[in-house]
Amino acid sequence: MALIEFRGVQKAFGPKRVFIDLNLDIHEGESITIIGGSGMGKSVLLKLLIGLLETDGGSILFDGEQIVNASPKTLTKVRRRIGMLFQGAALFDSLSVGENVAYGLREHLQMSEEAIAERVHESLDSVGLPGIEDMWPADLSGGMKKRVGLARAIAVHPEVLLYDEPTTGLDPINVTRINRLILSLKEKLQVTSIVVTHDMQSAFITSDRLAMIDDGHVIFQGTPDEIRRTEDRRVRDFIEGNADEDLDTETLLRRGG
Ligand SMILES: Nc1ncnc2c1ncn2[C@@H]1O[C@H](COP(=O)(O)OP(=O)(O)OP(=O)(O)O)[C@@H](O)[C@H]1O
Ligand SMILES: [Mg+2]
Repeated sequence: MALIEFRGVQKAFGPKRVFIDLNLDIHEGESITIIGGSGMGKSVLLKLLIGLLETDGGSILFDGEQIVNASPKTLTKVRRRIGMLFQGAALFDSLSVGENVAYGLREHLQMSEEAIAERVHESLDSVGLPGIEDMWPADLSGGMKKRVGLARAIAVHPEVLLYDEPTTGLDPINVTRINRLILSLKEKLQVTSIVVTHDMQSAFITSDRLAMIDDGHVIFQGTPDEIRRTEDRRVRDFIEGNADEDLDTETLLRRGG
């Protein structure tokens, strides 16, 4: 049985149908990368999984528990097992870096102040930002904010990590650092990871499998080797970055959300 199962998931915002019939299995311990054009629903997929958005139909199972229409109690239980790096980091500006990273620890776990400080230090250290506990989000560069967001996600030692564009906007050294971190969390702690990225090079390095979302469906799933060899035109064009010359402005705008 898969750790996470999306079955026939439907999701619309008003007239905009993001997912029509989305099916995807994610296995324990694997690292899967979700790719697809802007506005295709990659961030929505992650938010449905942690119950931040509600589905219109279908089923989402996490370790056998139904997420769709789940009680607050079930959602809290599930969220404790999942760490999420939001697109754009989403730090609390009124909290110091240290308090931001400590947030999930205070929310969910009964830990002493000493243990919290230790965990915060360890988490900042693993994203290459040791000792910046007393800084404020406003004083950080975009790349630093992203890494603090990642430190916050890993601080709770989750079983599953959701990364929404973890390397976007980072310089090449930090891209490598984050990719290594994703790999080491998977190898050392057997963390299951779901990574959303536009960075195909990172995707090929960090993932066991890739899944592509297009027009409301998962249109491809496979290993990096399989995706490199696929004959599917939409997938090829996407990973090779071929622009569709025939696309009119209206279609582009619709896709962009
Ligand atoms: N809370 C919301 N209310 C209304 N529409 C939404 C909401 N969240 C997402 N959408 C719409 O759903 C579609 C999918 O959004 P999503 O953020 O998942 O795209 P994405 O694939 O992550 O794109 P990107 O690569 O640009 O981050 C978009 O058209 C977006 O405008
Ligand atoms: Mg997104």
